[in-house]
Amino acid sequence: MVEPDAIGAYWDAAAASFDDEPDHGLQAGPTRAAWRRRLADWVPAGSADVLDVGCGTGSLSLLLAEAGHRVTGVDLAPGMVARAQRKLAEAGRPGRFLVGDAASPPTGEAAFDVVLARHLLWTLSAPRAALADWVGRLRPGGRLVLVEGRWRTTGIPYVSGAERLPWNGGVGAAELAAAVRPLARGLRVEVLSGDPELWGGPVDDERYALIAEV
Ligand SMILES: C[S@@+](CC[C@H](N)C(=O)[O-])C[C@H]1O[C@@H](n2cnc3c(N)ncnc32)[C@H](O)[C@@H]1O
Repeated sequence: MVEPDAIGAYWDAAAASFDDEPDHGLQAGPTRAAWRRRLADWVPAGSADVLDVGCGTGSLSLLLAEAGHRVTGVDLAPGMVARAQRKLAEAGRPGRFLVGDAASPPTGEAAFDVVLARHLLWTLSAPRAALADWVGRLRPGGRLVLVEGRWRTTGIPYVSGAERLPWNGGVGAAELAAAVRPLARGLRVEVLSGDPELWGGPVDDERYALIAEV
């Protein structure tokens, strides 16, 4: 088990510069538009209740709020949550952001139409238990949208003990699909590696979205 406090502190320290990465801050119009298009496909049109777990600075939350969805974001790092709150407030969009553990989001009995997680599962101590928790928060017909990958940057120092995380460095689509399949009815994987606009340039590692309905 890696201490959640250590992980929270790591991301708190990273919060101020997090949006400098093209695929984090989505500051370039084409990058933002690329994510907007994908989200429109993954999250049914209308006004869905979306839980964005490990929401970071709220870049995807903002796109979903702009599309008319009701977004709740949860993140372990207060600095990330503060930035997400500010980002949506400055854009004049509603959104609720909470400090908490994505493994058991502090949203009480609330039910959601969509649970979205981008680049979070790799850093959870018990990612399979988190998946089961999220499925339990979905309304019938709701969906998981998991944007994940296996990155070639595993040499970057992370928190002490990170090598014990089950999916440290990322999780491949086949392994994640095997973990989600018992929990879900329909499941599809969309390969994202070949779309450089999503990432601010070409990438040569595995990146994908897994969409599953319950
Ligand atoms: C790589 S960032 C991704 C942020 C955001 N999902 C995005 O795609 O821009 C990982 C985020 O997960 C958060 N995080 C890590 N472990 C967490 C946990 N157990 N519960 C909630 N958030 C967590 C970090 O604070 C960080 O904001």
